[in-house]
Amino acid sequence: MDTDMDTEMDADTTLSPLAVPEERDVESSLRPKRLSEFVGQARVREQLQLVLEGAMRRGSPPDHVLLSGPPGLGKTSLSMIIAAELGSAIRITSGPALERAGDLAAMLSNLLEGDVLFIDEIHRIARPAEEMLYLAMEDFRVDVVVGKGPGATSIPLDIAPFTLVGATTRSGMLTGPLRDRFGFTAHMEFYEPHELEQVLTRSAVILGVDLRPDGAAEIASRSRGTPRIANRLLRRVRDYAEVRANGAVTREVAHSALAVYDVDELGLDRLDRAVLGALVRSFGGGPVGISTLAVAVGEESTTVEEVCEPYLVRAGMLARTPRGRVATAAAWQHLGLRAPGDAPGQATPTLFGE
Ligand SMILES: Nc1ncnc2c1ncn2[C@@H]1O[C@H](COP(=O)(O)OP(=O)(O)O)[C@@H](O)[C@H]1O
Ligand SMILES: [Mg+2]
Repeated sequence: MDTDMDTEMDADTTLSPLAVPEERDVESSLRPKRLSEFVGQARVREQLQLVLEGAMRRGSPPDHVLLSGPPGLGKTSLSMIIAAELGSAIRITSGPALERAGDLAAMLSNLLEGDVLFIDEIHRIARPAEEMLYLAMEDFRVDVVVGKGPGATSIPLDIAPFTLVGATTRSGMLTGPLRDRFGFTAHMEFYEPHELEQVLTRSAVILGVDLRPDGAAEIASRSRGTPRIANRLLRRVRDYAEVRANGAVTREVAHSALAVYDVDELGLDRLDRAVLGALVRSFGGGPVGISTLAVAVGEESTTVEEVCEPYLVRAGMLARTPRGRVATAAAWQHLGLRAPGDAPGQATPTLFGE
């Protein structure tokens, strides 16, 4: 088997906003470490700055923070930045890892005052652990149940005041009581191309890539609004620049490289294209329900909903309606097809033409 990641990665992986295990080291070297290095998300940055600074002035841990948004936009990075800005230690776990309440109780009781506890994919936490979290977040207390059956007793245990940072791709799936216990929620948005250019320029310096401004612009425009994808495309393009050119990443080099990796002008990935294709070709453009659409592309509906749909909506390719998902005129055009007259976003014909 070919173990060279650079050649093994196919187009699917190249464009996926999800983290790939082999990338862990390079991702962590590219992670912004402080709020001032964190590109874009100006609103979130400003709000968070105030939350953190206020807390530090009062000398108490800040409110619990919920970071919500699609994969690859910087939630994990931001959680580490929160700890760094506070000068605190961070403990990292995830919703799926907290299957038993006991696992969470152990983590909570090991926290030191002011620690940051990061729970990734917090919407996937099991119910008993979630209920334990309510009391911990509110009163810095856990009730540990000792014994079984009628003899079981619950022992209240104080835990150190801490800050919970939760990350989720699906804030809508959080229960009301859990959501209410976060004092601050940050909604992460897809990045603008000029912000991704900044991300790329920063990464190029760290990786020692000769990235030219026009090359950065070319990569940024195809990165699906997602820093993780931008960084990955930069590495693919660098390979190409070193092997097929003189190492400099110009617009021409980036363009040719991305063609090799089958990245389209909008940066849509295989699943995005499959969803649009099914919507248009099998369902006449919709409306169609999300689960039907997911079956048509052979994916879980959560994946279609969390990973794929947010960007298609943002790119103006897909509309959510009460009756289901509908392809916009732009989606038909992107697939090289003629949009029916009733497709949303259909340009109104003008008398004078273009
Ligand atoms: N605002 C940002 N500025 C610079 N780089 C970023 C930013 N957001 C994300 N990144 C880059 O993208 C990668 C993925 O970010 P991550 O925090 O793991 O996203 P998420 O947890 O939301 O999936 C990081 O390794 C980092 O290099
Ligand atoms: Mg993450």
